[in-house]
Amino acid sequence: MEITLIKPDDWHLHLRDGAILRDIVPFTTARFARAIVMPNLQPPVTKVSAAVEYRQRILEAVPAGNRFEPLMTLYLTESTPLSEIEAAAASGIIKAFKLYPAGATTNSNAGVKEIKRIYPLLEKMQETGLLLLIHGEVVDSDIDIFDREKIFIDRTLSALVSDFPELKIVFEHITTRDAAEFVRDGSEKLAATLTPQHLMYNRNSLLVGGIKPHYYCLPVLKREAHRAALIETIASGSPKFFLGTDSAPHARHTKENSCGCAGIFSAHAGIELYAEIFEQAGILDKLEGFASCHGPDFYGLPRNQETITLRKEAWKPPSSYPLASETLVPLKAEETIHWQLV
Ligand code: NCD
Ligand code: ZN
Ligand code: ZN
Repeated sequence: MEITLIKPDDWHLHLRDGAILRDIVPFTTARFARAIVMPNLQPPVTKVSAAVEYRQRILEAVPAGNRFEPLMTLYLTESTPLSEIEAAAASGIIKAFKLYPAGATTNSNAGVKEIKRIYPLLEKMQETGLLLLIHGEVVDSDIDIFDREKIFIDRTLSALVSDFPELKIVFEHITTRDAAEFVRDGSEKLAATLTPQHLMYNRNSLLVGGIKPHYYCLPVLKREAHRAALIETIASGSPKFFLGTDSAPHARHTKENSCGCAGIFSAHAGIELYAEIFEQAGILDKLEGFASCHGPDFYGLPRNQETITLRKEAWKPPSSYPLASETLVPLKAEETIHWQLV
């Protein structure tokens, strides 16, 4: 069996920099025409000038024969000047700002502590048509890690969407029924991305039979009822939900560690995994909308002209891939994936 789709885009991707960037870019550019590139480098990409240079390094890493457009984002901080929002809007290469609550995830220490302090910046983003992308979790130490996304909706996101009704917001990598329903019931300016891991696994994968660090990402995997709600959400075919792998490379030893870091690498099978998810749910007819149409429509960009073909044929990713001088363990290492890129 084969299926042909409009070439998809990845609306949430970590490419890192330097030798790591050069190792991982080809996985994405073989499958996707464009990707929203996350700015959580060290130091974070907070300025248009830095994004322009980063974009150039990404383009230099694209293999000959692949056509790929990196869609750049800037990392929002409490000291971002208003002029940087204007410069981003005028740049033509920057589509969005990324809001990380300080301390919520990998490289988020420079993020936002008090949301009200960035309200003037959000006002300017709303006015200039830039999107706001959100890692939606509270960081309060008294809040259970499994509740952090839901409480973020109650404490922050509800107010944000009503205070900025014209601002386009993407609630990134949603993991709960609460988030899916909040987006579904919200205005047409509110959308969400969904990762392969949150559609395929629940928290048992992370914790039953031993701690499995390669299943650890943030937001953390939730209980099965939430995964089922996410499957219902993509089955609805709603244009508010689209593909964002959140593929995030970490060297093996940083994950297999007494304090293992958060992030799952999936770019090596970035579209194939979704084909498997949609097929198993009996909704393969909804894959093209999710992977190739809803994202560009929401961002106000044209859909891609090219197509890709996937064939139902089993293969196994290797136990690891090179990552600069180290290695990384990909999602489904040495396990069967049922779809292949032709
Ligand atoms: C991401 C990373 O490694 O950069 N990690 C993750 O667990 N998702 C950061 C993020 O998207 O939160
Ligand atoms: Zn995140
Ligand atoms: Zn991410």
